[in-house]
Amino acid sequence: MNANNQGVPLLVVDDEQSVRDSLERVLEKEGFQVFTAESGRQAREILQKEPIALVLTDLRMPEISGLDLLRQVKKQYPDTEVILITGHGTIEKAVEAMKEGAYDFITKPFKRAEILRAVNKALEKQSLARENRLLKEQLKSSFENKIQFIGKSKQAHEIMQLVDRVAPLPSTVLITGESGTGKEIIARMIHMKSPRAGKRFVAVNCGAISENLIESELFGHVKGAFTGAIRDKEGLFKIASGGTLFLDEISTIPINLQVKLLRALEEHEIMPVGSTRTIPVDVRIIAASNRDLLKEVEEGRFREDLYYRLNVIGINIPPLRERREDIPLLVDYFIQKFNRELNKNVRGVSHQVMQMFLTYQWKGNVRELENAIERAMILCDGDQILPEHMPQNFANLEVQPMVKSGLKEAVMAFEKSQILKTLEIVDGDKKAAAKLLGLSISSLYRKMSELGLDVKEPAGKHS
Ligand SMILES: Nc1ncnc2c1ncn2[C@@H]1O[C@H](COP(=O)(O)OP(=O)(O)OP(=O)(O)O)[C@@H](O)[C@H]1O
Ligand SMILES: [Mg+2]
Repeated sequence: MNANNQGVPLLVVDDEQSVRDSLERVLEKEGFQVFTAESGRQAREILQKEPIALVLTDLRMPEISGLDLLRQVKKQYPDTEVILITGHGTIEKAVEAMKEGAYDFITKPFKRAEILRAVNKALEKQSLARENRLLKEQLKSSFENKIQFIGKSKQAHEIMQLVDRVAPLPSTVLITGESGTGKEIIARMIHMKSPRAGKRFVAVNCGAISENLIESELFGHVKGAFTGAIRDKEGLFKIASGGTLFLDEISTIPINLQVKLLRALEEHEIMPVGSTRTIPVDVRIIAASNRDLLKEVEEGRFREDLYYRLNVIGINIPPLRERREDIPLLVDYFIQKFNRELNKNVRGVSHQVMQMFLTYQWKGNVRELENAIERAMILCDGDQILPEHMPQNFANLEVQPMVKSGLKEAVMAFEKSQILKTLEIVDGDKKAAAKLLGLSISSLYRKMSELGLDVKEPAGKHS
């Protein structure tokens, strides 16, 4: 008797009583809990009630055949293994059944050892598969917990909605945004929410690999392809197989390689360096760039066809200074994160510091904010981050008293005063104001109308 089998529920289906009895005897002796059915119909009833791990079924039975039963089991209880019992002359059918998902078949008359071997192997496979799945789920949820795009601004909401919408699709995604805005986070979130989540997410920073190595890095090479290629090497396309390949800083890909990349995207096949044969690949591509790719196209540094191929779905992450409403939330999030990592007990930032944060330009975006908080927390011994914990460049900021109401109002009031002041300096020239504020002209207009500021040119000006 095997301890692992103790109580594992099996179902024996055969219209012949003697077969049922002998199988039952053999299996019960091994510790299994054996259910028997004399027809497909009865088998179904038992399957509905009992968590059957494995079904042993005769192939040829009146009414519902073993093959039909197999199909039903596989459809309704995909984890339940099925072993078929066949008489003479039905081996071909049994082979067909294997294609439909039967684990194995045994022919009558069978030997005890033969049955036990098949049953044990099927159960072993089943538990391995289950273990695998559990591991994957665990990994997935631990990743999902860590990777979060924090934000409550309209723009952040729109980005998250877009992520949910595109994640299930196989389409290529192009993520654009200034450095530190969270492009990689978004790429990882898309992967985690996609059907490819159980497979790899491979990130490659195209800008960090020398021009003559990048082709072999992406597509692999065969032995002898160039000096130093002492053995075949798999490329990242192959390594990411079934998963997602994140091509970061895509604008740095040399123009001659762009053709090959386009081909890989269109044909779903790659040719390793030095090889004459293409190999099929199945990867989802997510690309990112902090440069304006369309401008790169205009200036002849980036192929237009590749641009459109990558930009099937475009996600643009606005700079932090265009969504200041996200700052308080991000501050909280990073404080909690570094409390854990640095074993601190900081509760928040002072009003003055929050004002600085809301005023600051954040050229390095969320990454810069994250670093500023980490640095401040290292310096901070109390439970509140104060101006003295901030780097020098923050000290020069003009700090105005915080409005009493809520943070949102504070942010709005601040933005309003900043925009008005800037417009005053540039004599109402919105283009110049936008530039000074680090906004695009369209964002300035949007901001102004959101804040209830008159976007029309004051009458009589510039005429
Ligand atoms: N919305 C957000 N919520 C939480 N963390 C964020 C968010 N945006 C960015 N971060 C954090 O900021 C840092 C920078 O993000 P990320 O690496 O994704 O930016 P990036 O756009 O890829 O930057 P680069 O162009 O420099 O590669 C990371 O540590 C990331 O965890
Ligand atoms: Mg990045």
